Amino acid sequence: MSFSREKSQPIFDRALNVLEKGVSSNFRYLGDNETPVIAKGKGARIWDADGNEFIDYRLGWGPINLGHADDRINKAVAEAIQYGTTFAATTPLEVETAELVKKMVPDMEKLRFTNTGTEATMHALRTARGFTNKEKFIKFEGQYHGAHDYVLYSTASTPISAMEDRKSHIPIQVGIGIPDRIRDYVYCLPFNDFDAVEQCVKDHHGEIASIMVEPCLGNIAGIEPQDGFLAHLKKLCDEYNMVLIFDEVKTGFRLSNGGARETYGVIPHISTYAKSLGNGFPVAAFGGSAEVMEVVGGGSVTHAGTFGANTVSMAAAKAVLTILDESPVLENLAIRGLRLKNGLDKILTDAGLPHQMSGHSNLQGFLLTEKEVKEVRDLVHHDDELYETIMSNMYDRGVWIEDDAREPWFLCEAHTEEIIDETLNKFEESVKEAIA
Ligand SMILES: Cc1ncc(COP(=O)(O)O)c(C=O)c1O
Repeated sequence: MSFSREKSQPIFDRALNVLEKGVSSNFRYLGDNETPVIAKGKGARIWDADGNEFIDYRLGWGPINLGHADDRINKAVAEAIQYGTTFAATTPLEVETAELVKKMVPDMEKLRFTNTGTEATMHALRTARGFTNKEKFIKFEGQYHGAHDYVLYSTASTPISAMEDRKSHIPIQVGIGIPDRIRDYVYCLPFNDFDAVEQCVKDHHGEIASIMVEPCLGNIAGIEPQDGFLAHLKKLCDEYNMVLIFDEVKTGFRLSNGGARETYGVIPHISTYAKSLGNGFPVAAFGGSAEVMEVVGGGSVTHAGTFGANTVSMAAAKAVLTILDESPVLENLAIRGLRLKNGLDKILTDAGLPHQMSGHSNLQGFLLTEKEVKEVRDLVHHDDELYETIMSNMYDRGVWIEDDAREPWFLCEAHTEEIIDETLNKFEESVKEAIA
């Protein structure tokens, strides 16, 4: 790394004294002398504590769909908080925001707000269990649904080498501290494998409450569902009394205004939202079919949270949704995303590097492999080292993309054509340097 850490390092040294490993999420720690300290962001750019500037494609791992410190959202939040933030009661802002979600998301009938994606998937799963009176669920390898115990199996963090035969379906626990028997509640299947899901459902549907799926692999380079895969899941859920949950924490209000439901044309029973709903302010939601959601409350399924639908989050979400509803932000993003995707593709082709472009333009990635990529196990053929070198070269040139190919490149409204072209120029240099 060629940047000065004159100011960043002393701050991170203090962080190491007070925060475990100096961070507030495991995934942020990059080493005692390497972890960046970010002081500010504006639009598509961020600055570290030394004033070094970066074009940002991490975007806080997805929430920023308009740009950092967007004046319109900041203004809405600043106005709203003058009247108080937390009342443990329904507020007009909350109702208006829910009405906007319902207007924009196809077939959204009833919802509840929470603060994080983890809370949203946890409550969605409990709702599915409450509705079906069954306990187990299916998730897919390489999918991350948050940090609660039930979903920490075979996620994006799981080394592929740790996964057994793809027919074994043995859930690999992520980290320690999770009771052993929680494993018994989950089946982990390969994404895009129609037969594996059908077989598992046929064998075990009497105890399966739900299929929970990220509609595209938002934590594995954005790998998209094959034609008919999501519809296949819906059909099985309808046939066998299971609740289909789309985890739209990464895809919601990012792929399109209606999220994966709209983009892929399949309506699940419940979806979860977080990240792009607040452009960086913490807000989340779960909701869908009125029939399923009716089990929430009234002495049935517990959903609770002191800070749910607080005024800060509602003001931010209402402002974000209003902007998305009134202007073609995500459509424009897709056009610029395609410019980026085509540019990256051409540079990799010209450099003679075997690769696969992956993902939707608004949440995209590429993998350095000749093999078609359909699921997480295909990453076994990926050249991790070369990818990391290219991204490290990008970082040195002031463009920050995660150096792990599993995390997609995110775009926001503030990534102009000029910024994308600047990125492509630096990418060409970075690739040349990496293979020289
Ligand atoms: C698909 C998906 N679901 C759930 C979560 C958890 O969201 P949060 O970090 O807000 O708890 C994430 C976080 O990255 C995610 O990518």
